[in-house]
Amino acid sequence: MALFKFIVKSPSPFGGAGLIIVTFGIVLIVKGLYYSNNHVTRRSYGNVQKNLSNFILKDISDDVQINHTSLPINVRRHEEHATTSFLSVCDLDFKTLKGREKMALTSQSLIALESMFPESHAGGRFQPNGCRSKHRIAIIIPFRDREIHLKIYLSNVIPKLRRQKVDFTIYVVEQAPGSHFNRGMMRNIGFAEARKIADYDCFIFNDVDSIFEDDRNLFQCGTDNSVRHLVTGVDVFDYKLKYSILVGGIIAFTPEQFRRVNGYSNFFFDWGAEDDDIYYRIQRAKMQIERPDTNSTIGFMSTLKHKRDPEVKYRFDILYSRNNETSHKDGINSLKYTVKVISHKKLFTWIYVAVNEEEVLQGLDAGIRRKIAAYRLKTKT
Ligand code: UDP
Ligand code: BGC
Repeated sequence: MALFKFIVKSPSPFGGAGLIIVTFGIVLIVKGLYYSNNHVTRRSYGNVQKNLSNFILKDISDDVQINHTSLPINVRRHEEHATTSFLSVCDLDFKTLKGREKMALTSQSLIALESMFPESHAGGRFQPNGCRSKHRIAIIIPFRDREIHLKIYLSNVIPKLRRQKVDFTIYVVEQAPGSHFNRGMMRNIGFAEARKIADYDCFIFNDVDSIFEDDRNLFQCGTDNSVRHLVTGVDVFDYKLKYSILVGGIIAFTPEQFRRVNGYSNFFFDWGAEDDDIYYRIQRAKMQIERPDTNSTIGFMSTLKHKRDPEVKYRFDILYSRNNETSHKDGINSLKYTVKVISHKKLFTWIYVAVNEEEVLQGLDAGIRRKIAAYRLKTKT
């Protein structure tokens, strides 16, 4: 209200133009309120716009309404079955695949991308034409401030997955300002939230800068005991893995496998080691890692260039100095976050979340917390 009085009383240096700007602003605010009241109760566009670092609200068409998320998941599963059961299961003809392709570095606006892929359904779900995919996959992308990468990712990856006849939905899980980036938590949150939306049988965690090169690298999960890492070589590591236990970039878990490892650790703020940590979780859960054929180029991955985040040393303290094994109490079962927005865009579901770093780190030993605090003080980050 105070803001409104201020706007009305202030003489506008731009005359009529000022009034138009104010009216436009009010329309935006009302639209925001409309959405916050009608869509998902936990969301608040107001807060988002205050720290609007993101382009997603500006450079994209409005939400696509999906009405069924309030129904229990078993009812949705039943409805889904009723609408697709008459279709035969997709039979992938490898001749229709293109093999290894060079990544295209063009970055189009999201609106332009939406019109390139008109066949998408609400929330970024793509289904194969004329057949039923055996698996329903959620692709979870941890995200903050990588606009160009997201556009390049979508334009490269969607056509490949369409050719694979996969039923997939893309989730972009964006961390709001106010805490250091936490890739593991974003992935855990993506898992937890996507499970509320649909009944996925495979979750593929894919960094936004990691683009698989070959469409014969099938986006699917491994069998019971094998977690599938979809990467055998990375361009910047001379198409090798930097070390044999590396499981970063793109990795697929069934919900049961992810539950067995209790997801990612929530303790890794800043760059690195959450993927190293999940390797040990997989090992402790007595599961294996499977990869595409290492004698071929099928598992090769391109990465997008970006300013590198500093390699924080204390990540190894978190990784190795926990004397008692803590993964059973640090992961999806201890996940705390606030969803600010869930928005069903045409090419992806956007989940905008805030995390309370201080509260999360309370779960770490005091010694490591002191190291992190000293690092922050020194680097003023
Ligand atoms: N990420 C992000 N914003 C950041 C840092 C990381 O979106 O500021 C996400 C993004 O998906 C990225 C992934 O986390 O691809 C891995 O981080 P990063 O690219 O920094 O790791 P690197 O490629 O340097 O190993
Ligand atoms: C980091 C990992 C990272 C790997 C490859 C390691 O030192 O801890 O998170 O994936 O390097 O860059």
